[in-house]
Amino acid sequence: MRTALVIGTGLIGTSAALALARRGVVVHLEDHDPEQARTAAALGAGIDEAPQSPVDVAVVAAPPAHVAAVLADAMRRGVARGYLDVASVKGGPRRELEALGLDLSAYLGTHPMSGREKSGPLAATADLFEGRPWVLTPTRDTDTEVLNLALELVSHCRAVPVVMDADAHDRAVALVSHMPHLVSSMVAARLQNAEEAAVRLCGQGIRDVTRIAASDPRMWIDILSANPGPVADLLGDVADDLDETVRALRALQSSDEGKRREGADGIEDVLRRGNAGQVRVPGKHGSAPHAYEVVAVLIDDQPGQLARIFADAGRAGVNIEDVRIEHATGQQAGLVQLMVEPKAVDMLGARCGSGGGRCGSRYPASGWVPPGPRGPGKALPVAVGRMSDPYPVTLCGAHSRPAAHRLAPGRCPPVENGAAQPVIVAIDGPSGTGKSSTSKAVAAQLGLSYLDTGAQYRAITWWMVSNGIDIEDPTAIAAVAGKPEIVSGTDPADPTITVDGTDVAGPIRTQEVTSKVSAVSAVPEVRARITELQRSLAASAERGIVVEGRDIGTTVLPDADLKIFLTASPEARAARRSGELKGADVQSTREALIKRDAADSSRKTSPLAKADDAVEVDTTELTLTQVIECVVTLVGEKRAAK
Ligand code: DC
Repeated sequence: MRTALVIGTGLIGTSAALALARRGVVVHLEDHDPEQARTAAALGAGIDEAPQSPVDVAVVAAPPAHVAAVLADAMRRGVARGYLDVASVKGGPRRELEALGLDLSAYLGTHPMSGREKSGPLAATADLFEGRPWVLTPTRDTDTEVLNLALELVSHCRAVPVVMDADAHDRAVALVSHMPHLVSSMVAARLQNAEEAAVRLCGQGIRDVTRIAASDPRMWIDILSANPGPVADLLGDVADDLDETVRALRALQSSDEGKRREGADGIEDVLRRGNAGQVRVPGKHGSAPHAYEVVAVLIDDQPGQLARIFADAGRAGVNIEDVRIEHATGQQAGLVQLMVEPKAVDMLGARCGSGGGRCGSRYPASGWVPPGPRGPGKALPVAVGRMSDPYPVTLCGAHSRPAAHRLAPGRCPPVENGAAQPVIVAIDGPSGTGKSSTSKAVAAQLGLSYLDTGAQYRAITWWMVSNGIDIEDPTAIAAVAGKPEIVSGTDPADPTITVDGTDVAGPIRTQEVTSKVSAVSAVPEVRARITELQRSLAASAERGIVVEGRDIGTTVLPDADLKIFLTASPEARAARRSGELKGADVQSTREALIKRDAADSSRKTSPLAKADDAVEVDTTELTLTQVIECVVTLVGEKRAAK
């Protein structure tokens, strides 16, 4: 991506523009309020001038109610190759665009799951999206090129792509953001006319529950107006719980023993269900369930106090997993809760006092809070959702988490269930089954490397053609198979391929190369050379890799953690390929595809084949999002079992 146009220079648009500009993309800025675009430009987010020719991508960052109209206008003006929006709801705008009769192959709805209580360009920061989920909602019609542009945008913003269906996204954000926001407002509203003496007693609990109620109502009216149905459904469920709870509390007031017991059971039920839901809120980095110890330190409200705690922890070699501060009402003191690994408790204690006891003069007026009856603090379970239903919980953000989780340090690795152990995924299958889009999106979502092995065979074919080697002569091909230097870049947001230093990403997709690649890739010397390359790339991928091809599960990586074999009917595959080749006719594409599959399946050396232990996924009736979700789920299950 070289050029972009950001339309709407509020908090999100300007933050995305700042991130893109920082990565060397030429960003043009547009806003219905020119003053706002000028402000964003002054902040270094780009230039507030219209581009002279179509840019690579237009990012529409308008409020949900206006997003369809702004997108439609941009598409009619033809300002870009691909169009993305970043509105917080996805189903409604898409339906509005469909109703306008626009060709939506160049459009992809997205939603970065981050924000602040403040709005406008002055609140923008280039790191707003770092480590946060960024939802992409491609459909069957979305161009692969546009999906690639979206993945690149997400990568530039250092966010974590999560592919979802648009309506599933809207239900998920209703659950983890919109409904909690209203509930927070309703709780905070109780304080409006409350006695001053009562308000003075506010502690951390009510601070946590009401923090998000401070947001701008106008912005929230826009958001809720765009997603009223799912939010109303969920609030209806909350209302049922409220009715039950009120009934149970009234029963507790009864003089009848049996009724009181019933009331207590009712209250216990809602509290226990609350516990069960709360442990599903992802913790630091969206990591797997994990128990931390809480070490509490009472500090004076003075400069340098936190720095001293953190410095001591650093000297003791202790990683502070998370931190929470409770402010003592009416006192110049606060309780700092440090979440650490259980084994780190003693290390901290040894550094700051004996056995986790008081710290004495180090932290004046206070020190380590003495251990309770069950040790130096209660275990804090930090949990993540089950893979069968990962999204609502993996999307949990600061809105539905306690404020302290926002302090999780550093750049978060991708949000994913299970520990970040290296994982090798082999995805094989014939062309047109969605292998590339699936593999790329899965790798990006899980923070893995990505390797398109077909591109390597195409690259060596391109070199043979460019050097006049007779494609009909396997001996001639074998003799020079070791000559070209093929280098594959494995970033899923920007997979590159060079031959002897020349970028061949474009030339390897020509009809000429496509028609010759099966013959070249059937030569055993070519396969041996490319297989070696593939194995060394897989071995050097620190976090793991998704490798797509024809013989990955059978020959290249027979010990892969997960093997997927994608299939689809010839009709579906031909339709997808001719869509990708823009206007190519389906019948001739179908014939070429069947011919190439037959050649790839019948060659002697490692033909296209399903490994015995591969999971076969027929993608004929599935959307790309469904296939991606399916593979992500399977990877999660494999990781959990590792
Ligand atoms: O995935 P693709 O269409 O870009 O692959 C191009 C060709 O490369 C395909 O027709 C067969 C060959 N290939 C192979 O033989 N083994 C692989 N692992 C990947 C591709």
